[in-house]
Amino acid sequence: MRVPLVAGNWKMNTTVNEAVALVYKMRLGLDEIDKVEKVVCPPFISLAAVKEVIKDSSIRLGAQNMYFESSGAYTGEISPIMLAELCQFVIIGHSERRQYFGETGEIVNRKVRAALKVGLKPILCIGERLDDYEAGRTEKVVTEQLESSLAGIGDISGLVIAYEPVWAIGTGKATTGEQANEIIGLIRRNMAKLYDKEATQSLRILYGGSVTAVNSGEFIKQPEIDGALVGGASLDADQFLSIVRQTAKIKG
Ligand code: PGA
Repeated sequence: MRVPLVAGNWKMNTTVNEAVALVYKMRLGLDEIDKVEKVVCPPFISLAAVKEVIKDSSIRLGAQNMYFESSGAYTGEISPIMLAELCQFVIIGHSERRQYFGETGEIVNRKVRAALKVGLKPILCIGERLDDYEAGRTEKVVTEQLESSLAGIGDISGLVIAYEPVWAIGTGKATTGEQANEIIGLIRRNMAKLYDKEATQSLRILYGGSVTAVNSGEFIKQPEIDGALVGGASLDADQFLSIVRQTAKIKG
């Protein structure tokens, strides 16, 4: 059985002090919930401080991005080995990275490889844009993104995939549970063509895009969906806790 996972992507929100205050609010509540893997992904500069707050808890830490080289003259970048000292997870290929920072499938592929190499678990984000969705190209786009992101990668242990329709991110327009389940089922079938049965069966695939405490149950109850990648609602301790609690209740 796959352990469900709920990750909070704080994006470019919270100062270091605010990040510490937020994780303090969540810490005891989250730590009490078992059978769900709980991950918080604050901005880079807060990772060390947040790590300190959660050090004796079951909460895991993730970064929101990284560069693929291990060190060198790449001003402003953060490397996989730097993150590996602090976190267990790293979000890769988020649609905002693809949209605003020019991340291509090839870059995403290099990042996924680099993360796996140092033992970080990549949360690989894929999902179609609104124009693709409206033109009925969802399956094609998602399949292509999957193939380019994972090209040449033989061992996917540790990998997590998040299906996030771009039009559902931060818009309050989540897709339906059934629709998300269908695409995630397709992703798993595609993965089964590329990897062995065991790897595919243990692969966790999350839904992301306007998940809230109100609608999370609709996604989590779907058989193919193993959890959620939560943006906006993860900045509210009560909402995030409620999403994790519901996940434990439904899937735990
Ligand atoms: P949202 O973001 O929950 O605010 O829509 C999700 C994400 O970007 O991972």
